[in-house]
Amino acid sequence: MAVLVLGGAGYIGSHTVDRLVSQGVDVVVVDNLVTGHRAAVSPKAKFYQGDIADQPFMRRVFAENPAIEAVIHFAAFSLVAESMEKPLKYFDNNTAGMIKLLEVMNEVGVKKIVFSSTAATYGIPENVPIKETDPQKPINPYGESKLMMEKIMHWSDLAYGIKFVALRYFNVAGAKPDGSIGEDHNPETHLLPIVLQVAAGKRDQLKIFGNDYNTPDGTNVRDYVHPFDLADAHILAVNYLKAGHESDAFNLGSSTGFSNMEILKAAREVTGKPIPAEMAPRRPGDPDTLIAASDKARKILGWNPQFDDIHKIIATAWKWHATHPNGYADR
Ligand code: UFG
Repeated sequence: MAVLVLGGAGYIGSHTVDRLVSQGVDVVVVDNLVTGHRAAVSPKAKFYQGDIADQPFMRRVFAENPAIEAVIHFAAFSLVAESMEKPLKYFDNNTAGMIKLLEVMNEVGVKKIVFSSTAATYGIPENVPIKETDPQKPINPYGESKLMMEKIMHWSDLAYGIKFVALRYFNVAGAKPDGSIGEDHNPETHLLPIVLQVAAGKRDQLKIFGNDYNTPDGTNVRDYVHPFDLADAHILAVNYLKAGHESDAFNLGSSTGFSNMEILKAAREVTGKPIPAEMAPRRPGDPDTLIAASDKARKILGWNPQFDDIHKIIATAWKWHATHPNGYADR
């Protein structure tokens, strides 16, 4: 059996490909390299450069790799702030891309898919920690585009029997502990890589977006999860579908929240660098607090995350950033 990983050259996709090949699974990767990096893909995987919405191309990928039994789908845009300015870019690439993909999957009879959803589908949470059954009312187009993908999956399961697992990630941070693959976005907008770019001397200072939120220190609180643990959750989800279980959605987080100020403090401790920071206005689309209830993934998928300590997560990210200040350009 082989697994097709869409977006396998991206941050979380490349960690998942790495984990799959380390377990001896045959992996086929599709990535259009718009945000992904060819160098991030394990040489043990078969690589195709192309777009998931290009149906003739995707038909060829399936035809040339008849062993593909399941798809793991990471190929999407994921920046909250950008989605506020360019919503149609998100509905086209993420939501319409999913429709094109499902049409081909249905045609070729591959009926198992694990895909990246997000905490951003919940919007402003009514309860903390957030449970999978809590209302999903996104406050940005990114979250809306992913919620639409979940709904499309639901109806495609009923109509065509395409079984899915939606994994709703919280904030992903960290790199492979040996420092060989890590986070490389251009432009970078995420908190931890920016903090570490300041530590590495690549930026002058951090701007903290808002200190008047309804949280203990006034800065946003987020729940951080390591891509190594996310990768394992995807592999468990593929096995769950292969065992014939029903479609479902799971939160993936650590169930612990850290404020932006706490992340800065922990990064100063891990790196030993001063990391200058100043307060700045709020960024549109940021909820006060996002913390996952992730016991469902632990109980049903058997997920057992290894990186439960924010200092450990930051240390892996620092190893990557300190040795690759220009990301994959330094490989
Ligand atoms: N932040 C700063 N300064 C920066 C960058 C970020 O203060 O220079 C703050 C943000 O305002 C926010 C926090 O750091 O309060 C985290 O921001 P990120 O951009 O790192 O992450 P987000 O919480 O916006 O979003 C991430 C993913 C989304 C996902 C979401 C779910 O990018 O895809 O987590 O929790 F939906």
